[in-house]
Amino acid sequence: MQAINILDKTFEPFIEHTLIQHRIEGIAGQIQKDYATREPLFLGVLNGSFLFAADLLKNYQAPCRISFVKFASYHGTQSSGEVNTLLGLNEELRGQHLIILEDIVDSGLTLHQLLLTLQSYQPASVRVASLLLKPKALKVAVTVDYCGFEVENDFLLGFGLDYNGYGRNLKHIYKLKN
Ligand code: IMP
Ligand code: MG
Repeated sequence: MQAINILDKTFEPFIEHTLIQHRIEGIAGQIQKDYATREPLFLGVLNGSFLFAADLLKNYQAPCRISFVKFASYHGTQSSGEVNTLLGLNEELRGQHLIILEDIVDSGLTLHQLLLTLQSYQPASVRVASLLLKPKALKVAVTVDYCGFEVENDFLLGFGLDYNGYGRNLKHIYKLKN
């Protein structure tokens, strides 16, 4: 693994692809055990979770379904600033055992908002799986039931995570070089 340059920044190797795969296999196995008597509906949060979701589902060898949601950020015309609307939700969530798939939980605000929104759809249960978690960056109390890696407050790139839209396709995870 080598350092890479994206736009104006340099990123150094952090988590190697085979280690990522190994952890995802572990999480898939754990979820499969925990959901032996229930069928989960996975809910991937776009864009960042697309590779995590794909690899997790490839390793989940029991009946399940997957759907995706996306936050549409736009600036409102009023002084309230940024508004987040959630796209892709529908009534089929009612009574389902949801497992949210996230690339990373940083401040936890995105996840918190998603959990609040999901409650109005009356799912039977909700759990969270995130490839990465920055415990020291949390600003709200959220529970990550299945976590790939706990990391420090560094800016990470690759395996779904982007810097200004670039780097999501990288198979390893990189860390911003200071
Ligand atoms: P939150 O702060 O937990 O709400 O995270 C919001 C979103 O910020 C995540 O879903 C990611 O898309 C993005 N994000 C947080 N930390 C990083 C990082 O280290 N690299 C790239 N994107 C990040
Ligand atoms: Mg994300």
